[in-house]
Amino acid sequence: MALTEITLSDTFEAAYEAPYERRASWQSAATPPAMGDLYQYDTEHQLCDVRIDGADPQLVHLHWSDGWRQTVHALWLREQCTCAECRHPASLGRILDQDGYDLDDIPALITIESDQTLMIIWADDGHISRYQAGWLRHGGRPPTLTTLSQTWGAELAECLPRFDFAALLSRDDVLLEWLEVLRQTGLTYVTNAPTTEGTVCDLVRRIANIRETNFGSVFEVVALADSISNAYTAAALPLHVDLPAREYQPGLQFLHCLANQTSGGNSIYCDGLQLAKVLREEDVEAFATLLRTPVLFRYHDQDCDYQNIAPIIELAPGGGIRNIRFNPAIMTTADCAPSKFKEFQRAYRSFLRLTRRPDLQLETRMEPGEIAVFDNRRVLHGRRAFAANGGSRHLQGAYVEWEDVDSRIRVLRRHIG
Ligand code: OGA
Ligand code: ZN
Ligand code: ZN
Repeated sequence: MALTEITLSDTFEAAYEAPYERRASWQSAATPPAMGDLYQYDTEHQLCDVRIDGADPQLVHLHWSDGWRQTVHALWLREQCTCAECRHPASLGRILDQDGYDLDDIPALITIESDQTLMIIWADDGHISRYQAGWLRHGGRPPTLTTLSQTWGAELAECLPRFDFAALLSRDDVLLEWLEVLRQTGLTYVTNAPTTEGTVCDLVRRIANIRETNFGSVFEVVALADSISNAYTAAALPLHVDLPAREYQPGLQFLHCLANQTSGGNSIYCDGLQLAKVLREEDVEAFATLLRTPVLFRYHDQDCDYQNIAPIIELAPGGGIRNIRFNPAIMTTADCAPSKFKEFQRAYRSFLRLTRRPDLQLETRMEPGEIAVFDNRRVLHGRRAFAANGGSRHLQGAYVEWEDVDSRIRVLRRHIG
């Protein structure tokens, strides 16, 4: 994103008060942010002292007012220099690569200036680097988005998080709250939206772009005589996630209700994290089998043939669950040896039965003007059958990626505490 597209808050501009070697030339263009980072690194603690290690002259010890002794490597400091020779002041991209200075470089002079900036003159070439105390205190890393997922069952129906469409479109603080709740519960409803076609795009545009798929940019959920998907019929849709046959199963799904005059067609949801948790408690063998057995998911029609081999429950590298892939309609088969097939089927049925347990299932009727927004890598959704000829039912859907939501949250947090 170009710097000019970013709205800078007053507090943000105050951060430029830190002294910079090349400050004068930067001021002619858009003023670059402190430490070349649009995130503001604050600290209540003071840098009291800085020492070079007695045994290794590339280790730098920082002494903080709260007693913390922080050790950093000189090459890391050299690499992170954000002066205009090292990083482009507008794009913030690196100019001087890591081969541009001596691997044995050490500080010839290192000192804490009166405004708490750490200043280094490098032995190799006399280059001068400056580091903000707050930035050092954070180890030069922006905070990660950590959210404790709140798992749920049928009881969420009583307190389903709801957000007003107009407020989401006009207020950044409400938008941020909504996105953060989405990360926690994985399911929210947006209410009071217009019932005009394309409205779902207006909401998505508050975050990013739609993730297009073979079903289009915005897809129409209506009952068709000649349907390319079970979704576009009047049949019941058992709980599922959308598009697990894609390498990147869409992160979030938006379903906007334009009309719902039929009898039947209630929406159902199930928290995949909760299902996995219950499965692990009640049938740990099945849980383990679903983690380790690859499954072939396939969606194909006249124009496409998507295939993806991946487990039904996928763990994230650091623990936790990264992706639930559960879609009986397009699950082809387990990709395992015949000797393991029965074990897989038993495990699969165990999970399938959990999706049918009423205490784990939330049921609600979508009203026109509501937009269901949910985590398609976590929450299973479905619908009851409806009367095909008993009045119109029309939803418009769209997919969005989590990386775009997370990026939006980080940008909103720059301005909203
Ligand atoms: C879908 C779907 C639910 C519904 O289109 O993928 O699950 O309520 N639709 O029609
Ligand atoms: Zn530099
Ligand atoms: Zn679906």
